[in-house]
Amino acid sequence: MSIRIDYSNMIGGAAGGIPAEEWMSSAAAFENAHAGFTRLREGGKVGFADVVGDAALLEQVESYADSVTGRYADVVILGIGGSALGPVALRTALSPSGWNLLSDDARGGFPRLHALDNVDPVTIAALLGRLALAKTLFIVTSKSGGTAETMSQFLIVHERLGNAGLTIADHVVFITDPAQGALRPLAATLGVTALDIPPSVGGRFSVLTAVGTLPAALLGIDIRSLLEGAADMARRCDVARASENPAGVYATLQWLADTRHGKRINVFMPYSDPLRDMAAWFVQLWAESLGKHTADGESVGQTPLPALGATDQHSQVQLFMEGPEDKTVTFVSVSDRGMDVRIPHAFADVKELGYLGGHTLGELIDVEQRATAGALAKRGRPNLTINLDRVDEWHVGGLIMLLELATAYAGQLYGVDAFDQPGVELGKQFAYALLGRPGADAARKEWDTLPEPDSRWSV
Ligand code: PA5
Repeated sequence: MSIRIDYSNMIGGAAGGIPAEEWMSSAAAFENAHAGFTRLREGGKVGFADVVGDAALLEQVESYADSVTGRYADVVILGIGGSALGPVALRTALSPSGWNLLSDDARGGFPRLHALDNVDPVTIAALLGRLALAKTLFIVTSKSGGTAETMSQFLIVHERLGNAGLTIADHVVFITDPAQGALRPLAATLGVTALDIPPSVGGRFSVLTAVGTLPAALLGIDIRSLLEGAADMARRCDVARASENPAGVYATLQWLADTRHGKRINVFMPYSDPLRDMAAWFVQLWAESLGKHTADGESVGQTPLPALGATDQHSQVQLFMEGPEDKTVTFVSVSDRGMDVRIPHAFADVKELGYLGGHTLGELIDVEQRATAGALAKRGRPNLTINLDRVDEWHVGGLIMLLELATAYAGQLYGVDAFDQPGVELGKQFAYALLGRPGADAARKEWDTLPEPDSRWSV
């Protein structure tokens, strides 16, 4: 069982990468970053790396999951951002392909899992219209316990369950901070079970708490192994020497590539369908954590871009090869996919088909990943490959922890707080003002100072 990073294609001045001497001399910067993060961790401000070993949190999730086993055909997450991206990534990675389309028998009696991570009425009306509410559990996930999108969804579901004569507490569970927001007191009023997101774990770092582990447990995913893989990676990363710390390698290389070599874009490209939703999860993590103002007012942060191999070889890879030299590419490869499909021998005399026979699809996708990495390197486009032995609970837990720690270190290297998101506040306040939420008067006044749309600039 292992997770390795091959970063040979990131190093080398002439090849468009980071000169080896520069990489070596960044050791002190990483040591500082590691020390800064360790202070936050030891001070109890940032807990995502520690809660994976918290037996009480695990017990909370397992006992709730056990208590509802076999009761539901469908589970629906109401949540947005970090409350939805992680659980969806776990479902795609760790449940059989096409899970929601499988019959009850093929799912082994485990429920389907849906995530309503937006407020487009088209999607919500369609899903609620086709679910059998009597056999549905709604997981309302909100760290803050007050996010407008999630609260609206909850109000709609609450009304629908009431209209169907169903008891709310039998069909709803909350996952939220124990000490803030509306959900915790509402849980008491409604008799709904509420599971904890520890105060020291922010939304986009919460997938390894009940936010991700409850939906995963309900689908029969081995959450103990997921957490063990994560804890193992956290131990591997408990070292201040960047070259020995996988998350340190990742964070420092991306930071150097961005701030010194103009690689403003970080393409995240798994060559694995099960890992495709990990890309969306990583995009939120990297973007919302690092796109910030520093204390000096400088705007920093590398833009993450999701891609999928081999599919995107026929789409974005042209841009990666010949477009602006402003990108790094992170490939994720998998050694053992647990199964393979042989490509049959046929049409031996047809040039485009004959050479494929006798190979396997697993071989093809691996060769294409290596070929793309090599071609990018040949063109001076830096890239690295994170290799997982397998896509199973242990490795996925490790990958998540690797990327979360890398994000935390990168925050230190850029000189920003990776754990807040002040930039989304103004838009939220404007929306509150327009919807008439109490306390939004100042935002309303600011909104009213915006110029009216100018008809000259409309077509
Ligand atoms: O990472 C974050 O903090 C955010 O993206 C949140 O996950 C998102 O805003 C949802 O917030 P909440 O979980 O408080 O409803």
